Amino acid sequence: MSCSIIVGGFFGDEGKGKIVAHVAHEDNPSIISRGGVGPNAGHTVVVGDKEYGVRMVPSGFVYKNAKLMIGTGVLVDPRVFAKEVNEVGVKDRIFVDGRCGIIELEHIERDRASDHLSKIIGSTGSGCGPANADRINRVARLAKDVPELQDYIVDVPVEVNSALDKGDNIILEGTQGFGISLYYGTYPFVTSKDTSASQIAADNGVGPTRIDDVIVVFKAYPTRVGEGPFSTEMSSEASHKLGIEEFGTVTHRERRVGNWDGKMARYSAMINGCTIAAVTGIDRIDSTCFGATRYDQLTAKAKEFLDQAEDDIGARIGLISTGPEMSQIIDIRDEL
Ligand code: GTP
Ligand code: IMP
Ligand code: MG
Repeated sequence: MSCSIIVGGFFGDEGKGKIVAHVAHEDNPSIISRGGVGPNAGHTVVVGDKEYGVRMVPSGFVYKNAKLMIGTGVLVDPRVFAKEVNEVGVKDRIFVDGRCGIIELEHIERDRASDHLSKIIGSTGSGCGPANADRINRVARLAKDVPELQDYIVDVPVEVNSALDKGDNIILEGTQGFGISLYYGTYPFVTSKDTSASQIAADNGVGPTRIDDVIVVFKAYPTRVGEGPFSTEMSSEASHKLGIEEFGTVTHRERRVGNWDGKMARYSAMINGCTIAAVTGIDRIDSTCFGATRYDQLTAKAKEFLDQAEDDIGARIGLISTGPEMSQIIDIRDEL
């Protein structure tokens, strides 16, 4: 039995979607359940020559033997949910907690019409901030009150905790990243909720004593979308020179790119209670590592980077991603 949480250690978009997809195929969880804010997230999963982008459906959907769930604390946009469920064909195995807050069209309008949210903070315009504000003001509608969602409603905490009682493996999937946590991030340039591992556990109604592993995902070259401080940021000329050009899955804005931030990595690992670190984008440190699946295929330059990163983080690196495709990964968790 093991319950693992996967969260982002920098500013989001670290490649959690890819890591979740890989870990799911290795660990065979019976349930993959999402925490995090809501459809402001955009996870990319590349399997073979197919690229999927999901905002509501857990990115572990590519592992076909798990039930997929959306935890109690996550905001649901019923339109995005219906579209994605249909697109990725998971109607028979996806479930939503009845207490999830609902994003109304009016929340999206409020998000986009607010200069503070859309311009100063640089929100994704997905309605999450206004919907969470309504939840706090206790006027939001909940999933159990939405007819289109009736077929999907379950008590997610009961499902997850019963599966753990039976000895199953469970993955709790985080979204966003540490630097945009409402509490621990660069306030006010943050999202509308905490994004740390404890929040992801709470989003799914799993108590802290039941968590076995917290996998914190770091990106070799961190990125940030939207406004706010980014101490290791480089110019776009410098990032393009490195061959890094990324665009947001939700907003299509170009992501700002920075150098590795060891101090942030350590602080984030501390607050997340990191037991295993994952580092993505090693192919960007040294392109000859692209697609490597064994540690001994890495170059001295890549190994040196990983040694430094491990020192900074203060936890062992068990997963090393060497490209966007799901199988481009070195998994040495068993050897640690
Ligand atoms: P949020 O939940 O929105 O924070 O996103 P995420 O953490 O799931 O990451 P997202 O998919 O938005 O962005 C990561 C990007 O990096 C995607 O385009 C991935 O396909 C890509 N990616 C993941 N791992 C690697 C890697 O090891 N190397 C390279 N070059 N790209 C990668
Ligand atoms: P909001 O969550 O849409 O209100 O946006 C607030 C801030 O968080 C903005 O800077 C967004 O770009 C950022 N943000 C929200 N969700 C994500 C995500 O999943 N990945 C990266 N940045 C995000
Ligand atoms: Mg993303």
